[in-house]
Amino acid sequence: METIIISDTNDLQQAAEILRQGGLVASPTETVYGLCANALNEDAVKNIYKAKGRPSDNPLIVHIADLSMLQPLVTEVSPIAKTLMERFWPGPMTLVFKASSLVPKVVTGGLDTVAVRFPSDPTITNLIRTSGLPLAAPSANTSGKPSPTNFSRVYEDLNGKIDCIIQGGDSQFGVESTVIDTTGEIATILRPGGITFEMLEEALGKVMMDPALGHKLKEGEVPKAPGMKYTHYAPNAKVILVRGEQDKVIEKINELVKTQQALGQKVGVMATDETLSYFKADTVYSVGTENDPRTIAAQLFEVLRKYDDAKMDIVYSLAFKTTGIGQAIMNRLEKSAGYHFIDV
Ligand code: TXA
Ligand code: MG
Repeated sequence: METIIISDTNDLQQAAEILRQGGLVASPTETVYGLCANALNEDAVKNIYKAKGRPSDNPLIVHIADLSMLQPLVTEVSPIAKTLMERFWPGPMTLVFKASSLVPKVVTGGLDTVAVRFPSDPTITNLIRTSGLPLAAPSANTSGKPSPTNFSRVYEDLNGKIDCIIQGGDSQFGVESTVIDTTGEIATILRPGGITFEMLEEALGKVMMDPALGHKLKEGEVPKAPGMKYTHYAPNAKVILVRGEQDKVIEKINELVKTQQALGQKVGVMATDETLSYFKADTVYSVGTENDPRTIAAQLFEVLRKYDDAKMDIVYSLAFKTTGIGQAIMNRLEKSAGYHFIDV
């Protein structure tokens, strides 16, 4: 298949027409690039799973660009949901509602709920409005790989497999939206993201974390967000997180690098602007500055992919604070490392 590349984000008529015909279009969003299809067209949605190689029980988020687009998709909007919508939409927040019968089962992975997001990025909202369609969109990467935060990575994974890619700039947040279940008494975070626990607590008073977060799933444990059970965000290199007091962490990583290099391994280190100069390895990249964790979120997935470009076998990474956006950063890093920590 020939993939059409659109670089004028102001002229989305052609991309909108592709969507109306049941095709697939990758678009920038403020979190990560998304792979969009008409959410109400079953065949189109099935092609998303095919293009990504995604397990079919992992449901998709439906993207809207006007509050009036929500009502036909859901049967109930709780007071919790209303508060959150007023505060954080449009933006990097996805809410889980009871689904109406209009939403195809391929979108919900067979669940009776549907996840909906009203993004703020002008390109995807323009695409939704021009096509007049709610758009089902997972991240625009091959399933299992780190999500794409720029055009080149979408092209690398999906060129030749989808109808169209819209070439925008780098994603602002760099980690996917916060997914929140609003169907219960208390709002529950199913996936941490750009709208942080602290922001939600401030808006609602009380928020819960899904008990399946923060550890490797146990035999038989079922997370509420099915996506959380799959290996995710993983480069080909084996990622290992080293945590503890910073001086000791640096010393330990340098020691591990030497040991692995002696065994013939190519070894990378994921550092920060502040620690970059302390490491010696085959490739050392900074993921951002510790003074502003938003820079780390924004570059995390791209830097993880750069170790594959450099053909590293192992990557040692610093662990980061879990406050604010740090919770989303560590959630993605833990998963890319398969929860492999070394404590010093
Ligand atoms: O920022 C984002 O959310 C990006 C951009 C493109 O909008 N999209 C994204 O989609 O990250 P995806 O498919 O990579 O992740 C969707 C997550 C998965 O963990 C999935 O299991 C969960 O949302 N999810 C979807 N529908 C759900 C539902 N009905 N109940 C619980 N979790 C759901
Ligand atoms: Mg994804």
